[in-house]
Amino acid sequence: MFGKVNSIGLTGLNAFDVYVEIEASAGLPALDIVGLADIAVRESRDRIRSAFRTSGLDFPKGRVLVNLAPADVKKSGSVHDLAIAVALLCVTGAVETERIKKAAFVGEVSLSGEIRRINGVLPMAILAQQGFEEIYVPKENALEASAVRGIKAYGVESLQQLVGHLSGRSEMPPEPVFTPSKADHISAMDFADVKGQSAAKKALEVAAAGGHNVLMIGSPGSGKSMLAKRLPSILPEMTFEESIETTNVHSVAGLLDSKHPLITTRPFRSPHHTVSAAGLAGGGTIPRPGEISLAHNGVLFLDELAEFARPALEILRQPLEDMKVTISRVSGSITYPSSIMLVGAMNPCPCGYYGHPTRKCICSKNQVDHYLNKISGPLLDRFDIHLEVAPVEFADLSSGEREESSESIRQRVQAARDIQNKRFKDTGITCNARITPELLHEVCPMSDRAERMLGDIFDKLGLSARAYEKILKVARTVADMDGSDIIDKPHIAQAVQYRSLDRKYWKS
Ligand SMILES: Nc1ncnc2c1ncn2[C@@H]1O[C@H](COP(=O)(O)OP(=O)(O)O)[C@@H](O)[C@H]1O
Ligand SMILES: [Mg+2]
Repeated sequence: MFGKVNSIGLTGLNAFDVYVEIEASAGLPALDIVGLADIAVRESRDRIRSAFRTSGLDFPKGRVLVNLAPADVKKSGSVHDLAIAVALLCVTGAVETERIKKAAFVGEVSLSGEIRRINGVLPMAILAQQGFEEIYVPKENALEASAVRGIKAYGVESLQQLVGHLSGRSEMPPEPVFTPSKADHISAMDFADVKGQSAAKKALEVAAAGGHNVLMIGSPGSGKSMLAKRLPSILPEMTFEESIETTNVHSVAGLLDSKHPLITTRPFRSPHHTVSAAGLAGGGTIPRPGEISLAHNGVLFLDELAEFARPALEILRQPLEDMKVTISRVSGSITYPSSIMLVGAMNPCPCGYYGHPTRKCICSKNQVDHYLNKISGPLLDRFDIHLEVAPVEFADLSSGEREESSESIRQRVQAARDIQNKRFKDTGITCNARITPELLHEVCPMSDRAERMLGDIFDKLGLSARAYEKILKVARTVADMDGSDIIDKPHIAQAVQYRSLDRKYWKS
């Protein structure tokens, strides 16, 4: 007797087809699983045997051999339990074999026959949609699978329920196709709460509009954390592709909320400064995505930047540049995306008052240098926008004047992002911060006077080629916010102003 059931495996974000082949023959009762399976897969044997017993289902008699094909790809975890169970049910004749040919099965089977949630259902369903008509997943993951068009998703609660369905006795309805509601941008935190600070707000608006990395520096209490926490309220909408990409990462990490299967608002991750390098960039024996990948298409906020361990910060450099992280393991390497907007906030020195307009800094020159040097030159270089946050003026703080709401700022950000989406259509570029060197001059045309100005500044400040590129990209965003195709002098002037910190603090 012979049967074959389709399943789907996952390494990192990559889903691949797995076939459960089964052969039952006469002999002493035994169940063996072969095909590069890890311990969790081999333990399926005991789980499934127990699940059959408690569910009152017949187990095949005699010797049963289960092969997970292709045999040269490592299978891990308990995701193939459900497909193995279905294969056994085919052998005993409990289910119709015709029915399962066009279906894929993923899920963990518990000892009592319940189907338990697994990680990574979204990328699995996306793959299944290309070759199958139906996918059977744990009930808790059903909404996630139903977000994929072109395939019927069934949420399975127990083995018994599945047997009823597949034998035609009591059909289950497929999950209704999930349609994401329009992302709601109502955030508890609003820029209207921040008094004054118009320059800082403007800089964050530009950063959000172009996806630029921002470094905020200022004395304690100047409002850096307060400003950063309000960034999510002005971020532009996610495109559908971005939404799928980010959800895939969260699906694999097992962080999806079963009620919100699609992430439709940009992630905002703010790990504590004690986070390890692996926590930031990803790692572990089964490599999990790190904070930088969980923030994919959104913001990674590192508050108290100078307090992070140096190796943790340095490990971010390459992923920031490449927009992906590769984690190598003996079993092969895994790549997670990491296209993020990095926002850092820090004090300028240990006491916090170096450069403060009125308070005196009590740190020695050495202490200040040592503190600032925790941020290496190359990391500093990754920030397109430098922002010095001065303490809020008393007059602003005490004034009863209403500040602009986040929603009103967000509309300008969205308008600028719409221009970029149109400009970069089909190029794979998502925003101005990601303009490639090859495209830089084509998409950043300057007026004569703007070009002259940038040339003068370049010579006077002794800018690096990298700084020049950053200024041009930020100026592109400033011009987009102005609705201007050509980058003009004021746009350059504003962009240059966002490069002042390294000269003031990291002068060398
Ligand atoms: N511009 C401002 N408007 C209103 N409150 C402010 C402003 N700046 C600072 N505050 C108040 O000061 C507190 C400390 O600010 P915080 O963001 O923690 O400063 P930092 O991170 O720079 O040390 C805030 O929670 C807020 O109550
Ligand atoms: Mg703070």
